[in-house]
Amino acid sequence: MKILFSGIQPTGKLHIGNFFGAIKNWVNIQHDYKSYFSVVDYHSITIKYDPEEMRERVMDMAVNLYACGIDMEKTNLFIQSEVPGHADLTWIFNSVTPMGELERMTQYKDKAQQNAKNVNVGLFDYPVLQAADILIYKAEVVPVGEDQVQHIEFTREISRNFNSRFGQTFPEPKELLTKTPRVLGIDGEKKMSKSLGNDIGLLESGEEIMNKLRGAKTDPARVTRNDPGNPDVCNIYSYHRLVSHEDERSEVVDGCRSAGMGCVDCKKILHKNLMKVLDPIRDRYENINKNKVSVREILTQNAEKCRRIAKQTILEVKEKMGLNPLWKI
Ligand code: AMP
Ligand code: TRP
Repeated sequence: MKILFSGIQPTGKLHIGNFFGAIKNWVNIQHDYKSYFSVVDYHSITIKYDPEEMRERVMDMAVNLYACGIDMEKTNLFIQSEVPGHADLTWIFNSVTPMGELERMTQYKDKAQQNAKNVNVGLFDYPVLQAADILIYKAEVVPVGEDQVQHIEFTREISRNFNSRFGQTFPEPKELLTKTPRVLGIDGEKKMSKSLGNDIGLLESGEEIMNKLRGAKTDPARVTRNDPGNPDVCNIYSYHRLVSHEDERSEVVDGCRSAGMGCVDCKKILHKNLMKVLDPIRDRYENINKNKVSVREILTQNAEKCRRIAKQTILEVKEKMGLNPLWKI
């Protein structure tokens, strides 16, 4: 079985962009690979945060992933900082990483701009830690949203740099995108993101979501109810593609093009279909939350398994790098 790795930052609540852009895919393919999923808390400390909140957010993200359908026991869902090998390999990779490559990273440039008062070395080094996450398990497949493609390309480069200097050790992992690798926010303009406030939370109530949908952008050319619209440029229709069945989609398309259906009715159909996906996730979340202790136990066991595997890679790497002098005596 090929090895799969993906990570997610414990940045508050998940939104439907995370779910349809990445996590749904993780759930669908988790048993086709030897899968590792990590709540990457060491990545999250590169921007300002509150320690009390962080404690909550890390556990909450694990519970969220479980509720979304990640099989915590058969796959390895774990907390990144509980496996020290990730940080160990990051330091090693730092020495085969050209500064210029990191300076090109668009996520770094964006975040440095957003957090101009706290541009720390960790933020700059973030992609190296990500490469270490993936390569410490020698993963070949990395299911992510489109915004992470540059980091996976970078990971391949680190792998090549290490291999050419110290001998074949790591694979060159490939990103795996979904059919919807970039879900737009309700503003219809930017990528859905919690920090932009244009998101629909995975655990929000039906009422909250309907309120957000009411204000969500549609085809800008459809000014009044009687103007025909174009689903191809309507962001609401892009959401229909995520959750609505073909029959209902063609009904919506015809209704929009002929102005037979108004945007409000179109949004109501979307809402009904969206809640069919989200209601069971919220129910599961509430149930699992009542038994967080058992989630904590599984995370602990998984971290232990990961530590064993990570250690093997670290030993192999150190041997190749000449960092094991006593072994030769
Ligand atoms: P993050 O919350 O930034 O750690 O992202 C977790 C996963 O969700 C990553 O694989 C991202 O690429 C993906 N993701 C985040 N936002 C979106 C979006 N708006 N559309 C599609 N995928 C996304
Ligand atoms: N940088 C990723 C994000 O913001 C999270 C992440 C960290 C990750 N390590 C990873 C994703 C390894 C895939 C593989 O979404």
